[in-house]
Amino acid sequence: MNKWTTENIPDQSGRVVIVTGANSGIGFEAAKVLALKGADVVLAVRNNKKGDQAKAEILKDHSQAKITVSLLDLSSLKSVKDFSENFLKSQTQLDVLINNAGIMIPPYGKTEDGFESQMGTNHLGHFALTAQLFPLLKSTVDSRIVNVSSTAHNMGNINFGDIHWESRKYVPWKSYGDSKIANLYFTNELGRRMKTAGLDVIATTAHPGYAATGLQKGLFLKFLNVIVAQSGFMGAMPTLMAAIDPEASSSNFYGPSGIAQQRGWPKIVAPNKLSQDETIAKKLWTTSEELTGINFSI
Ligand SMILES: NC(=O)c1ccc[n+]([C@@H]2O[C@H](COP(=O)([O-])OP(=O)(O)OC[C@H]3O[C@@H](n4cnc5c(N)ncnc54)[C@H](OP(=O)(O)O)[C@@H]3O)[C@@H](O)[C@H]2O)c1
Repeated sequence: MNKWTTENIPDQSGRVVIVTGANSGIGFEAAKVLALKGADVVLAVRNNKKGDQAKAEILKDHSQAKITVSLLDLSSLKSVKDFSENFLKSQTQLDVLINNAGIMIPPYGKTEDGFESQMGTNHLGHFALTAQLFPLLKSTVDSRIVNVSSTAHNMGNINFGDIHWESRKYVPWKSYGDSKIANLYFTNELGRRMKTAGLDVIATTAHPGYAATGLQKGLFLKFLNVIVAQSGFMGAMPTLMAAIDPEASSSNFYGPSGIAQQRGWPKIVAPNKLSQDETIAKKLWTTSEELTGINFSI
């Protein structure tokens, strides 16, 4: 099998890309590759200083890179709205939106708007962001949305009666799995709705396998990073393929081709069966609209 590498990415000059959580890990590596290929890349970050450092790092390798740092905190609907409004005011196209930012297994907490923090940041923030940027994605020819999920979607099974874990004991990994299966439901439902509306926007999902990044906070996970994880660069490859693959169609899922999809060059992989359930995806869409107060008009 031919491997898919950065050599497969054509010149991206004239294309505008947003990468959320682009100051570190997979988002940083994906943003860097796309900038090196000529795209105008917006690093959407929650900390300006970290964003500026990431920008400087990319410029070190490619002084001509077109990079903008813009403040976006996905755990605040107000911040998502401000970011989107500023972007829509200043740009006339959006070719690729990479919904990459994420948190994994934090202690129980809530976002500014009262959402459990993993579902709030990893799914609901990106749902609100995509909805508000959608008019521009719709008017840009051949645009694409990439949602970054995880093999942890296999642990997900959303309890709609208690989506914020208020009446159960919080189980961090389970909650992370719920937010990551939500990424797949969101992509699939978005793809179906766009197809029905006859739009040429594509929505894909990617997962990085296991990559050593800032995501793994505890000592044990950091130890595992050293012995088994692949690099952040390799972790970004499925995201890049999901963003670029000219053969892509909505609902394609990209991940590493190696053992248990944990490492290796990217390819199209199979998500689990539960993540393909259309009834749950529709329910999550309606729930996400209700919780964010946003009518996601296609
Ligand atoms: N690494 C893996 O093995 C792995 C496996 C499966 C899936 N993933 C997924 O890959 C994606 C990227 O993670 P990573 O591994 O690259 O981890 P990372 O290095 O920790 O990067 C996560 C990024 O998200 C940002 N972020 C977190 N909360 C945010 C918020 N409220 N608003 C805006 N940005 C926020 C972080 O910003 P700060 O630097 O300010 O915290 C950081 O830039 C995540 O969706 C994760 O679930 C990773």
